[in-house]
Amino acid sequence: MTFSRRQFVKTATVSAVLAEIAGIRSITHQSDHLTRRSQQQSSIVSADQYSLAPDINYLNHASIGTVPVVVQRAHEAYLKLCETNPWLYMWSEPWQEPREQVRQQVADLFQCDSNEVAITHNTTEVFNTIASGLPLGPGDEVLFSSLNHSGASICFAHRADEKGYSVRRFDFPVHDVPEMTPEDVVSVYADQIRPSTRVLAIPHIDNMIGLRHPLKMIAKAAHERGVEWVVVDGAQTASMIPLDLAESGVDVYATSAHKWIQSPKGLGLAYVRRDVQDVLSPLWVTWGQTRWKGTARIYEDYGTRALPAVLAMGDALTFQAMIPATERSAHHISMWKEMQEIVDSTSKLEWRSSRNWEAGGALYAVEVVGQPSSDVARHLFEENGSIVRSFQTQGLNTIRISPNIMNSVEDLSQLVSAVL
Ligand SMILES: Cc1ncc(COP(=O)(O)O)c(C=O)c1O
Repeated sequence: MTFSRRQFVKTATVSAVLAEIAGIRSITHQSDHLTRRSQQQSSIVSADQYSLAPDINYLNHASIGTVPVVVQRAHEAYLKLCETNPWLYMWSEPWQEPREQVRQQVADLFQCDSNEVAITHNTTEVFNTIASGLPLGPGDEVLFSSLNHSGASICFAHRADEKGYSVRRFDFPVHDVPEMTPEDVVSVYADQIRPSTRVLAIPHIDNMIGLRHPLKMIAKAAHERGVEWVVVDGAQTASMIPLDLAESGVDVYATSAHKWIQSPKGLGLAYVRRDVQDVLSPLWVTWGQTRWKGTARIYEDYGTRALPAVLAMGDALTFQAMIPATERSAHHISMWKEMQEIVDSTSKLEWRSSRNWEAGGALYAVEVVGQPSSDVARHLFEENGSIVRSFQTQGLNTIRISPNIMNSVEDLSQLVSAVL
């Protein structure tokens, strides 16, 4: 009797919580959040769906994303709910199912099995797991190019001595990128692979010039040459371009949800192919290893974590999923073309990214001829409210422009007006 009454209370609590969560989520589901700008403007979502200051022309989504107001509200609602009974939400059943629903949303985005998805903190964490967790030792080489972000490269150098493997970083021919075909990109990597290369680490889209790597072709070429693990830094792709990870042939894929997915900050995602899970040791372990064995959940065995943010990532994914892939692509392509037209119309600017959309993305590098790009970026912020990032490395002197779904061609014109 006592047991069944307790059981009743527990069941009632769980269903009440699920109903509450469904209520929060239904707000995000309403497609009127995607109010378009006026006909003349070319963004997908109105800027007033975000919290950006009115004098800021935010063109730096590759550094850090903006969170839609509706997702911020959902996050606040989960935080509030959690504080009504922290033990219940952190350590009992009510949020287990909603958390698994978020994992399924990620699996839908990644096009993979949900048991191959881990909800991490960021891309850097996943690469640290790879650098310390793969069975590598003396005689094994980890290979990557100068396009790799520090978050997907420094970890290897840091672990190499301790584990006895070697690391080789080669210079990517960044100045050839504008005219490179996907086949050229594959050749650059294939030519660098040696018999000792066991890991090839590549960006899907790098953060500097935005070169999109043809994953399937690179994974095939690398595996054929004896590379065991092709690991991919997808920090710049999830929710920007379509993904098909199960099909891609890559072994591990990491992304940061706080960029293009527009989730609360401090969340990342990993795809770890089923058979790789048997050899890749987790970085953090506590009570979940036995329970989650055979799934990528073993890579999120953190103990206490910020679950309200994890649930709000589900709302961010819902928000993004309301935009049809074709509309998103059309938007990014038209902005990319517009920027090239602006650049090509003046001798003061040079285009440094790919001119082939299949090898590009929604982040592009432009040189303001004769001016240090760090000065250009500072001037843009101080005088124009435009936010971009500068790069003065590997012979580049560029600003990186990374517009997203709420940006329009008017934002590009505003930026350019300040540098011409
Ligand atoms: C290509 C790329 N990889 C990795 C990272 C690191 O991301 P996080 O700090 O979220 O791990 C970034 C951040 O800008 C990036 O652009």
